[in-house]
Amino acid sequence: MSRIALFASGSGSNFQVIAEAIQRGDISADIAILVCDQPDAYVIKRAEQLQIPVFSFRAKDYSSKVEFETKIVDKLREAGVDFIFLAGYMRLIGETLLRAYGGKIVNIHPSLLPAFPGKDAIGQAFNARVKITGVTVHFVDEGMDTGPIIDQESVRVAEDETRESLQEKIQKIEHTLYPRVIKNLLTKAVVEGTKK
Ligand code: GRF
Repeated sequence: MSRIALFASGSGSNFQVIAEAIQRGDISADIAILVCDQPDAYVIKRAEQLQIPVFSFRAKDYSSKVEFETKIVDKLREAGVDFIFLAGYMRLIGETLLRAYGGKIVNIHPSLLPAFPGKDAIGQAFNARVKITGVTVHFVDEGMDTGPIIDQESVRVAEDETRESLQEKIQKIEHTLYPRVIKNLLTKAVVEGTKK
């Protein structure tokens, strides 16, 4: 069974749906650890309720990204983690994590990449008055939302759409797309023998 880590910084609604899909048996995996860079984030409460181990930290308590990512890698190795899924983790992944888990780190981004990378992708798309936007799941490389695309789903922006209603539509898509992609990736890893 795959052991996965989820990384998040905020509310954790994606974390929640993934954890529930695992509990229902839809995804064959264990969440070995939640990594969170905001010790006050609501996602930590969600993890505690589900009795999922948490490693939380503040970047400012470390002298560099290399230093805190080295600590994260230690925690991931201790927990026997095979794959990392970023779910609203608001930091660029650095060389230390990429060296340890390259090709095994996946992110979800609320736009149709390569359009609107970076922060507030929903607001960027809304302000650009695009008619179609969506959600992308992609492998993580050293760039900002630039790695190979795994899957995407689109949504039409209605004439009377607001920033808030667009966010709701996008999150609804995320909550079905991400668990489905995770399930497919982990199944493929088992079939290919990279993971039992
Ligand atoms: C999601 O929109 C995700 O695409 C982005 O951050 C948001 C996290 O939301 N990377 P939540 O914390 O899972 O509710």
